[in-house]
Amino acid sequence: MKPRILIVDDDETNLVLLTAKLERVGYEVGKAVNGLEALERTAVFHPDLILMDIMMPVMDGYEVLRRLKSRESTRYIPVVLITGKSEVEDKVMGFEVGAEDYISKPYSLQEVAARVKSLLRMRALQTRLRETEKVAALGSMVDGIAHELRNPLVAIGGMARRLYEHETDAQHKEYAGKIIKSVERLERLILRIDEYKRILSSSLMRGDLNDVIEAAVKEIREYVSGTGKEINIRQNLMPEPPPINFDSGNLKTAISNVLHNSVEAIEKNGEITVETLPAFDQTLILKITDTGCGIKDADIRNVFNPFQTSKFEGAGLGLTITYRIIQDHGGEIDITSKAGIGTTVIIRLHPAERGRPVTHAP
Ligand SMILES: Nc1ncnc2c1ncn2[C@@H]1O[C@H](COP(=O)(O)OP(=O)(O)OP(=O)(O)O)[C@@H](O)[C@H]1O
Ligand SMILES: [Mg+2]
Repeated sequence: MKPRILIVDDDETNLVLLTAKLERVGYEVGKAVNGLEALERTAVFHPDLILMDIMMPVMDGYEVLRRLKSRESTRYIPVVLITGKSEVEDKVMGFEVGAEDYISKPYSLQEVAARVKSLLRMRALQTRLRETEKVAALGSMVDGIAHELRNPLVAIGGMARRLYEHETDAQHKEYAGKIIKSVERLERLILRIDEYKRILSSSLMRGDLNDVIEAAVKEIREYVSGTGKEINIRQNLMPEPPPINFDSGNLKTAISNVLHNSVEAIEKNGEITVETLPAFDQTLILKITDTGCGIKDADIRNVFNPFQTSKFEGAGLGLTITYRIIQDHGGEIDITSKAGIGTTVIIRLHPAERGRPVTHAP
């Protein structure tokens, strides 16, 4: 989409010249001939930048500027004042009211275009910064809520478990069981929030991928033994894989999340295979296959989306986190599945380049 510039000037010649120049260099241009019209046009045209004369009939540039800067919806639109006035006080007044820049007549069209370009670039950076700040604020709020939920959940879960153990009435026992399941669901969500917070800081170091895979497989074997399921976990790792830069904690989380999904997809008996293979393009492939329930075609494209889950106790964040971790490692992840047959997850990682620094914080 072309950036939009609103030109406000009561002088027809200036308006035509500026419009022609800015359109030629690739902007969409809107026009207004006085201050009041400028405010009306701003509300519908949504300009990315306003070039405005100061001395105008109906409402002057200073007043327009004051009104634009006092409203949240228009506050961040950069305004460049263009005027015949070149007195220092006028410039100062313009900046005080909130103008981002000032151009005095006579001006060169080229200079106006260059300033517009530079201000738009700055505005894009500021917008990104504001969004980052918003995300960070939201992140710490979510974190705070998760923290506040932890203690009440321990109490609710603990008491519901006691009720479940001692209750003799079948109906009441069922109710207690339902409370426990809901608590477990929330506990899993909190666990994922913690996990997400942890992966935001990663530090890549050169190492042996087999160590991380073996640690994740060991953990999942222990986990399976407590579930009562009969799952044969086969591990077939390439000896001496090429060194890779990774954050061992985060990469283990990524692999564990995939393995947990495989275990959850197997109802009672099944098999999970974890293998590494060299690819023709020098990358290293980690392939995790299971004989679980598989994923329906309609659902597969959404599995990496947050909160996408088919499980009552699922947070739907496991694969979102895994995807982010693999991306932070410069790798790719792909999933293929056949409902009723099983699922294959392929993670492709790039070997560390020789001579590159061994540590790196993205
Ligand atoms: N190996 C698999 N077999 C079958 N379905 C799978 C497999 N892996 C993922 N899925 C599907 O993708 C969904 C999303 O997986 P994801 O790990 O992101 O969330 P989840 O397991 O539901 O919850 P959690 O955040 O607790 O991991 C799952 O709910 C499931 O429907
Ligand atoms: Mg999962």
